Amino acid sequence: MGNSTRIRLIDPGDAAAIAAHRVRDFEAFRRWEPAQPAEFFTEQGQATRIDSLLAGYRAGTLWPGVVLADDQVIGQITVGGILPQPHLRRASLGYWITGPAQGRGHAGRAVGLAVRVMTDDLGLHRAEASTNLENLPSQRVLRRNGFSPYGVAHAAILLDGSWRDGLLWERILSD
Ligand SMILES: CC(C)(COP(=O)(O)OP(=O)(O)OC[C@H]1O[C@@H](n2cnc3c(N)ncnc32)[C@H](O)[C@@H]1OP(=O)(O)O)[C@@H](O)C(=O)NCCC(=O)NCCS
Repeated sequence: MGNSTRIRLIDPGDAAAIAAHRVRDFEAFRRWEPAQPAEFFTEQGQATRIDSLLAGYRAGTLWPGVVLADDQVIGQITVGGILPQPHLRRASLGYWITGPAQGRGHAGRAVGLAVRVMTDDLGLHRAEASTNLENLPSQRVLRRNGFSPYGVAHAAILLDGSWRDGLLWERILSD
């Protein structure tokens, strides 16, 4: 796998690759990603999920992307919770990269590309993200892209059976 990174909107044809990654990454992601029902780990379950992500895209609440290296899907990057009202213009960013493709800068470059989508395509003014306090790789990815931590949300997410704090991150995109 090379070191070039692209992002594009997710497509129903990505279901098989995403299901295969999430089966392989099940143990490694357990501490960082919320538990999912059994269908999540099947191609059919992912196809249904992708349909609903694309419905969110059409409704203007989501920009659901995949991350590509050498034209292979290696992860997802999602601009979620889009609030397009003129006095808000903000959204939050979430992402994962499959184990074998980690540690090559893909997440860092994908977040940079998603910030451009948020600014240029979605016209947003503020980007937010949340990481686990112990998720140092994810925190590096955000810092490298100009995000700063601004607070802690207590008992904010159920991960691997316990409610975990979330470190909150922000980046102002435009005036
Ligand atoms: C977090 C994640 C997206 C990072 O993806 P990636 O493609 O490996 O990220 P990158 O290679 O762009 O950057 C990783 C950074 O973490 C650093 N890093 C890696 N392991 C580290 C560790 N144990 N401690 C501190 N820093 C570490 C790398 O050096 C790099 O930083 P640098 O750019 O300053 O050198 C990926 O590990 C992942 O999907 N994890 C599981 C799901 C998850 O955590 N999602 C995010 C939830 S907020």
